[in-house]
Amino acid sequence: MHDLRLGVIGYGLRASLAVTAHRPGRGSRVVAVADPDPAARARAAADLPGADLVADHHRLLERGDVDAVVVLTPDHTHEQVATDTLRAGRAAFVEKPLGISTQECDRILAVAHETGSRLYVGHNMRHMGVVRLMRDIIARGEIGQVQTVWVRHFVGHGGDYYFKDWHAQRRHTTSLLLQKAAHDIDVLHWLAGGYTEVASAFGDLRVYGRVTDRLAPGEAKRDDWFDPARNWPPLAQTGLDAELDVEDVSVVNLRLDNGVLAAYQQCHFTPDYWRNYTVIGDAGRLENFGDQPGAVVKVWNARRSDYRADADAEYPVPVAEGGHGGADSLIMDEFCRFVREGGHTDTSPVAARMSVAAGVAATASLRAGGAPQSVPELAGELAAYFAAGQRR
Ligand SMILES: NC(=O)c1ccc[n+]([C@@H]2O[C@H](COP(=O)([O-])OP(=O)(O)OC[C@H]3O[C@@H](n4cnc5c(N)ncnc54)[C@H](O)[C@@H]3O)[C@@H](O)[C@H]2O)c1
Repeated sequence: MHDLRLGVIGYGLRASLAVTAHRPGRGSRVVAVADPDPAARARAAADLPGADLVADHHRLLERGDVDAVVVLTPDHTHEQVATDTLRAGRAAFVEKPLGISTQECDRILAVAHETGSRLYVGHNMRHMGVVRLMRDIIARGEIGQVQTVWVRHFVGHGGDYYFKDWHAQRRHTTSLLLQKAAHDIDVLHWLAGGYTEVASAFGDLRVYGRVTDRLAPGEAKRDDWFDPARNWPPLAQTGLDAELDVEDVSVVNLRLDNGVLAAYQQCHFTPDYWRNYTVIGDAGRLENFGDQPGAVVKVWNARRSDYRADADAEYPVPVAEGGHGGADSLIMDEFCRFVREGGHTDTSPVAARMSVAAGVAATASLRAGGAPQSVPELAGELAAYFAAGQRR
């Protein structure tokens, strides 16, 4: 089997995924990288010796020898870069979120349909051990039929990761609710077996708006931007983005199309960084304690009682190697297999669109005083094309 020849567009923090994908002799290698930033290209030269380095992604797409492209550019550029890639006849891996508006997502899906180029969206959480474990428990019927899902997202490093660059600006993300929650809303949809129909939310910029140590407009984040010890408590943060206008805390209620009721809460100034899921069915409840390999998911389903630490079943989250609890390596395996063979994948472009659409609706709601907002339906021909595995 020859190596799949990959191009990478965008070589910033998420370059780790490109490094994961570079497996010469083992199925895939990165042969070209496009990034307008010379510092990014210098990092790529060090990480991926021999790869062709260009500033403009159009130059990369003109190469005849690239089989598939991994898009790792900022969220607001996904539509442009992804549609250019698909129109160039290349399979595209697009990092999540698929876009920053529902319309952008729909245009990407439409171009995939029109061109027949394969589209894959990087929802790596679907390959995380903790998520797959919870899904397996539900599939085995251990908690009965899912009725409600509650997700608490403690984004402990949020001040460092999301308030010092483009992430902090509505024009580049819509909201952090969409930016971060696209993952968990997707997982929540997957666990519940439905998609959001209506969202209602509150949110605010409670803490980081009070930090006065700011970058100048347009200034890049400082070299010491990530420092969990120094940047605590949250009001001790330094070098926050000049334009920051996104919320740092939000609470969301969702009604899904199968009747499941869900809640998602996100906070960027917690001391700890992890996600806590509770899924309640009509015959039991599950909850994860920690989300990294070695953490546990507990299930209570045998009887009623006060809180019992000794649950009726307790499952360890499987141990795996690599970034995001092993999910980065697994998602690249799935993408490469999909490029070669097509067929079913655990991630789904339609599900990616539905998670963005739910995040957009929730953001509209929280900026309209909590008024419920409906999620627009996906056009029938696009839904059918993707349901058939991107085959005409
Ligand atoms: N799935 C995950 O777990 C996960 C984790 C982190 C980031 N992400 C996503 O990955 C993407 C990249 O995030 P990041 O943190 O690496 O951002 P970043 O800002 O660190 O890097 C983005 C890079 O893209 C380059 N770029 C911008 N426009 C470009 C273009 N037209 N052509 C080529 N390069 C271009 C920039 O110069 C920069 O080097 C985002 O969509 C983000 O949401 C996903």
